[in-house]
Amino acid sequence: MSDNALLAIDQVTKTFPWGKHRIEAVRRVSLSIGTAETLGLVGESGSGKSTLGRLAIGLLAPDRGTVTVSGVNLGAVAPRTLRTMRQTLQIVFQDPGAALNARVSVAANILEPLVVHNIGTRDERLRRVGRLLERVGLTTAHGPAMPDELSGGQLQRVMIARALALGPKLLVCDEILSALDLSVQAQVLSLLDDLRTTEDLAYLFISHNLSAVAYLSDRIGVMYLGELVEWAPTAALVAAPKHPYTQALFQSILEVPTSKAARKSLTGIPGEVPSAIDRPLGCAFHTRCPLAMDICRQEAPPWLTVGDQHQAACHALAAVEEG
Ligand SMILES: Nc1ncnc2c1ncn2[C@@H]1O[C@H](COP(=O)(O)OP(=O)(O)OP(=O)(O)O)[C@@H](O)[C@H]1O
Ligand SMILES: [Mg+2]
Repeated sequence: MSDNALLAIDQVTKTFPWGKHRIEAVRRVSLSIGTAETLGLVGESGSGKSTLGRLAIGLLAPDRGTVTVSGVNLGAVAPRTLRTMRQTLQIVFQDPGAALNARVSVAANILEPLVVHNIGTRDERLRRVGRLLERVGLTTAHGPAMPDELSGGQLQRVMIARALALGPKLLVCDEILSALDLSVQAQVLSLLDDLRTTEDLAYLFISHNLSAVAYLSDRIGVMYLGELVEWAPTAALVAAPKHPYTQALFQSILEVPTSKAARKSLTGIPGEVPSAIDRPLGCAFHTRCPLAMDICRQEAPPWLTVGDQHQAACHALAAVEEG
């Protein structure tokens, strides 16, 4: 982790109550994001990506570990300071329809954070909304429209404009492409690409769409059952994933069979994701891993440096290294 990181997540664990038990949604995760850097986050459903995204911007507080933004520990500041800091940390979700207020205009939706944080005069706010609409590829003519008059792609642009209203430094994008048509996905992706330069914006980009993650991200982290298992610069990870889980995940995504019969037999990654309540001992992936050895069932795997800025947590890789 670099010392001058915009965001530094250090050994963070987050649990939720689950009946009589607690579920470990995020477990001992450490990562950092630099200014205007994009970190992509991939992993199967339930691996803890959204929980980590919420922890990153202080929407959730960790049970253990620290979340530090520009050197300030979010868990150690007064509520008022946290509120001010949260202006620089924003999130956009998958479903803009649910996140926007359907009863007020597009402009009023974008204005809301400025009003809540009491920023600018009425005229200044309105001018800012106009600029934001143009910044995300809409026009001031969209301002008076009601949300239900806009397409899915336009609504997602409104959500991005709203998230940009307070001049954030970090934007968590949680599956923001998944409800959009392919061509619209490409447009939104290109907008995000553009904004990181013009707005000096860093992203935590969460998506099941690996090609979108690879397109936008400088680095990618891979999560399994709440844990980070591998991270690397994008080119290195895509060309040569090292962790058996990353390899299986990428294969299940990339090897989309063309024939109908082959599609039917597509099983993705063999085996079931274990329950996060009853987490396997040792390496959590050992129940599905083709390389599992005795030690994998007993001890947590060590982090290994497997390339430049490339780390993976795996006993089998460690065994290869030891020769
Ligand atoms: N508020 C909550 N209360 C209880 N359990 C939760 C809560 N939020 C998340 N979880 C659990 O934590 C685990 C991680 O969930 P999370 O939503 O972070 O995964 P995800 O990787 O974002 O999944 P997906 O790809 O489906 O969006 C899951 O087992 C989920 O059921
Ligand atoms: Mg999620």
